[in-house]
Amino acid sequence: MYLFANLAILFTILQTQDVQAANILAILPHVGKSHFLVFEPLMKELATRGHHVTVASFFPQSEPLGNYTDISLQEIAEVRKERINLQVFDKPNRIISSLGLQNFMTQVFAFQPLSDLALKVCSGLVNLPPLAEALRKNYDVVLVENFNSDCALGLLHVYDVKAPVIGLVSGPLLQWSYSRIGLPDNPSYVPTITSRTSTITTFLDRLENTALNLYFKLWFRYAIQVKERAIIERRFWIKIPDLDVLARNVSMMLVNTFHSFNGVRPLLPGLVEVGGMHIGRRREEHKRTSPVIPQRSKS
Ligand SMILES: *[C@@H]1O[C@H](CO)[C@@H](O)[C@H](O)[C@H]1NC(C)=O
Ligand SMILES: *[C@@H]1O[C@H](CO)[C@@H](O)[C@H](O)[C@H]1NC(C)=O
Repeated sequence: MYLFANLAILFTILQTQDVQAANILAILPHVGKSHFLVFEPLMKELATRGHHVTVASFFPQSEPLGNYTDISLQEIAEVRKERINLQVFDKPNRIISSLGLQNFMTQVFAFQPLSDLALKVCSGLVNLPPLAEALRKNYDVVLVENFNSDCALGLLHVYDVKAPVIGLVSGPLLQWSYSRIGLPDNPSYVPTITSRTSTITTFLDRLENTALNLYFKLWFRYAIQVKERAIIERRFWIKIPDLDVLARNVSMMLVNTFHSFNGVRPLLPGLVEVGGMHIGRRREEHKRTSPVIPQRSKS
């Protein structure tokens, strides 16, 4: 809520006197461009409104932008265009299919490479001088992508950044997003992120969804969070809190969903659905191309 409270106060002051803009740090450490495309318009809009944004990402601006400072992470890992290995779908394994586990395994495999990637990026982040320099400054709010890593949260702790943290999710919530702001994710009706449908109808759907829910939580915990904490502790020679504890301290999350598309489920004020935030405002164009409403023929 801090960001919006800050913005509201800022706009009130704007009416009467000089503006004290916010100093904002965003850490977006995923190599997939599709994620950045969702966040970039928010960063640019904040800069246009006079805030100073520092963005650590794999996608620095090609032209320098006012009020917008880039920290390039490109040297850490290769930028990835989204690629999906279609063989998993093409050649189903007979044993797995006969056990009815094809769908389950496909979803598990889809996420598997993301843990190695997270650890690789984390090892790079802890050794990146420009990021370390940025983390020594003061911020009013820090935006951190919530995807396959909590490394950034550990770093914020190491550098003693006290600003409130807002989590950003570029798609639907991940299985490990819910607990950090106290949202219920009852697997009997809240589908996992990789689910093919947005509603769960049959008993088998429910069973599979429950297994996936558990699997993804354990996977994130033990293949990523625990190992990232170890990477940070080895690098800085200090003990830091469990990354899950730091994760539960986020003040708010913005998620790229909208209930009419992604299904109805319980939400809390700390979670704001910003589905379509990245779609540009094209009011003028809209007017010009607005569809012609067919006239009903008089009968
Ligand atoms: C940068 O912020 C100032 C206010 O601090 C604002 O007037 C200006 O338009 C912003 N620059 C850009 C390029 O958005
Ligand atoms: C939790 O967040 C607040 C700011 O919202 C910060 O002051 C505090 O240090 C954080 N606690 C931990 C354990 O990081």
